[in-house]
Order: sequence, then structure tokens, then C-alpha cells
Amino acid sequence: QQVEAFDLVIFGGTGDLSVRKLLPAMFHRFVDGQIDKHSRIIGVARSEHSDDSFRKLVHEAIAKATKDAASKDINAFLKMIHYRALDGGKDEGWEEFAQFMGQEADHVRVFYLSTSPSIFSDLCKRLGDHKLNEGKARVVLEKPIGTDLSSANKINDDVAKVFQESQTYRIDHYLGKETVQNLLALRFGNALFEPLWNAEHIEHVQITVAETVGVGHRAGYYDGSGAMRDMIQNHILQLLCMVAMEPPASLAPDAVRDEKLKVLRSLKPITATEAPHTTVRGQYRAGASEGGSVPGYQDELGRPSNTETFVAIKAEIGNWRWAGVPFYLRTGKRLPERLSEIVVTFKAVPHSIFGADAGALAQNRLVLRLQPDEGVKLWLTIKNPGPGGLKLRHVPLDMSFLEAFGIGQLPDAYERLILDVVRGNPTLFMRRDEVEAAWNWADPILDAWAASGDAPKLYTAGTWGPSASVALIERDGHTWNEDNT
Ligand code: BG6
Repeated sequence: QQVEAFDLVIFGGTGDLSVRKLLPAMFHRFVDGQIDKHSRIIGVARSEHSDDSFRKLVHEAIAKATKDAASKDINAFLKMIHYRALDGGKDEGWEEFAQFMGQEADHVRVFYLSTSPSIFSDLCKRLGDHKLNEGKARVVLEKPIGTDLSSANKINDDVAKVFQESQTYRIDHYLGKETVQNLLALRFGNALFEPLWNAEHIEHVQITVAETVGVGHRAGYYDGSGAMRDMIQNHILQLLCMVAMEPPASLAPDAVRDEKLKVLRSLKPITATEAPHTTVRGQYRAGASEGGSVPGYQDELGRPSNTETFVAIKAEIGNWRWAGVPFYLRTGKRLPERLSEIVVTFKAVPHSIFGADAGALAQNRLVLRLQPDEGVKLWLTIKNPGPGGLKLRHVPLDMSFLEAFGIGQLPDAYERLILDVVRGNPTLFMRRDEVEAAWNWADPILDAWAASGDAPKLYTAGTWGPSASVALIERDGHTWNEDNT
């Protein structure tokens, strides 16, 4: 369904995220007829561009991102694109920008801050000074919001001086991924899982977000961040919330966010004494990835660094539902495959009636595959077909979304989320208290790492991280999921 005409202003309009993700996402929605052609998409950055030169850049980016770029829609889409050069730290140009936007905001205006969080405060202040926060204005904050709780508080306070919480959309694009939303449907739309979804029946949960890419040209940003701030504090904790939360009363934004918040607040703090046993930090060294040899992180950065590109953590949720169930979290760059999945391993049957000849009994596992090949697999034990006595086999009920629905490609997370902002639906966005609770858990771990002064453990690019990550889970008698057993 088409949304009413709106203005979308992308600060950091020429940046990587804007060009690679946001603009192609808007194009896809346009091709699908969801965007009224009277809408405007305005790129803003410091560099000089004319509307035309920016349109050319957008056209090239879309051509790279999608084969639909050759379609007749591209020209109509490019007509909606504009560009304004502006510096968040300087007054110059803002008056003209405000005029360009028009003061009468009877339509939705979305200001998407796809910039370093260090300029969120300046940008919001100037938007406020020029009354661009009025009417149906909304601000979208890209992660990471700060680098710790106190910097996040400062940003949130500054934004709150200009935009009300109801106008503020803290984006975590993992919440827009189809399989993540599907977790809600799977958990709360089926009678099958929820009665078993607790410490009595679930042995452990694994959340893996593995990437083959290195840090490359993002090293400047990444070195000040690292995997904990870049992935765990936000994307992975949000996934954990979706797995672990109680049934919300409805899908109303605050009903869902209240439940997620309760999970974050129930995360057991990891103390400095525990951190060496329950957390692992790694950094890739030169190796082989994506079919060729690749440099190590420090070579890419051009200087020595203690920033981690890999993290594994054993987390625990201290509440009635999850007491004693470990949640193993793992993410890294330059791992052997691009793979994001949530694996829920159920407890073993209480007693085996099968003799030794039948083979080993394996535990049930529910694998939610976020990417690639989005889908759900439920591993079951069955009898091996044939007359040769009762032999047990472990096989999956396997559903691939693309196959099941006969579609070529699922929409990108940003497509859904940006339109949610336009529609005014914050269900899949992080509320301020969620961000704070997530930092509250992450900060002591970051502090413990900093205080220890230990360098991250090196792992060869193209491997599954340092061996300590394997030891972390094997100490508890489990193994990281390999999806073919
Ligand atoms: C971003 C991180 O938020 O998510 C990147 O900053 C990471 O470092 C990216 O590569 C992963 O997103 P996706 O959708 O490709 O899994």
C-alpha cells in the first residue's frame, strides 16, 4: 500500500550506508509502488554536489545493487532525488536548507542521521534551531548510539532537547530482517514451541553472526568501535531479546519494547573476574578469505591496534524462564562463511529405549537462519528407512523462505524499516531505555577488557575465530552448530 508523499533527508547522504543500502532500499519500494512520486529524497553531506551529479551517483549505486536499475522506473525515481551540501558543525547554509524543506510541515519529514554519532547532537540542534523538528518530523538515529552508557546518555539527552521520544527512531536493521520478525510469528503464532520455550526444555541457545568481509575502508570508524560495540551491544542483543522475551500483550510498539527491555535488564552482569572465562576477544591476521589471500586487520589499518574483530560470549539471563540456560553469542569479521543464525538446542530425552545398535540419540535443534537462505530448520530424530533394524537418524524439517514462497529475493531490512518510520510505527526500533540497558550490560565487559590490557587473540582470516571460542562452549559440553549433523 502506498504511503503518503514524504520527505526523507539522509545526512551522510554520500556515505557507504546511504549509497549501498538506503537509496537502493528506497528504489525497491518505489518500484513496488509504495512511494508516491511527489516524495523527495534529499541527500545531505559536506561535499559539493549538484542535484544532477548526486543523481548520477545514486544511479550508479542502484545499478550495482539491483538489476532493476535499467527499468523505466529509474528516471522517475531519480527525479525525486535532491542534494544539499551542509555541515552539521557550521551555521552556513542551514537557512537556505530550511527554506528548501518548507516551514509548513503538513507531511511527514524524516531526518535520517547516517553519520558518525559524534555529530548527532549538532545536527539535532540545528534542525531544532530552524524549526525542522515541528509537525510530523521524525529523526532516525543509526547505531552505534555512543560508545558507552554515558556517551549514549549524552546523545539521547541532546536529541531529546529537540525531538520527543515518539519522534525518535533508533534503528537496528537486524530487527527489519524477515527471519527476525518471523521469530514473533513462530513463537507466538504456533502452539508448538511456547510451552517448551524455557529452561526446563531448552539446553542452550547460540546466536552467530559471521561475516566473511574484513573491515577494509571502514577501519577508521571500526577501530574506535570493535565487534562488541559494532555488533554485540546492538544487533546480537536485539536478537537475544526476540528469542528470550515473554509474550507481549500485543504488537503495539511499547508492548513489544517493554518485553525486550525486561530481557536486557535481566542479563546477568559479567564481572571482571568472570570475563576471562566467559568472553573471548579475537582479531584476524592475514589469511585466506573469499577465494583469495587477504591482509590482517592491523595491515588494513596501517598501525598496531588492540581492537577486536571477533567476540564470543557466554551470556545468561537471570529470570524464571531462562535461569541456567547459557546463551552463546558469537560474531566476527573474516570468518569462513557469511552466516547469521539462531540455534535453539532442546534437552535430551529423559531416557533412551533404543539399544546401542540404534546409534546415538541427538537432541532436537531449531535453527533460524537469518542469512543467507533465510529459513527455519527443525532437526528431529527418525528411524532410518529400510529393513536393517531400527537405526536412528537425525534429519531436518527444512523450510527455505525463497522456495516456500517462490520469490526471488526477500526485501532488505531497510526497506521495511524506513517505511515504518514514514508510517509512524516504532515497534521495530529501539527505545531509549533499551539502548541504555544494553550499554549497562556491555560496559563492564568493555571495562574488564580494557583493564586487563590483554591484546585480542589472533586468528587467521578465513577461520572460525580463536580456539578459545571453541573452548568457551566445549567447556560446557556443547559445540558451535554445524548445520549438517
Ligand atoms: C552493521 C555493522 O551494523 O552491520 C557492520 O556496522 C556489519 O560492521 C553489518 O558488517 C552487518 O549487516 P548485515 O545486514 O550485512 O548482516
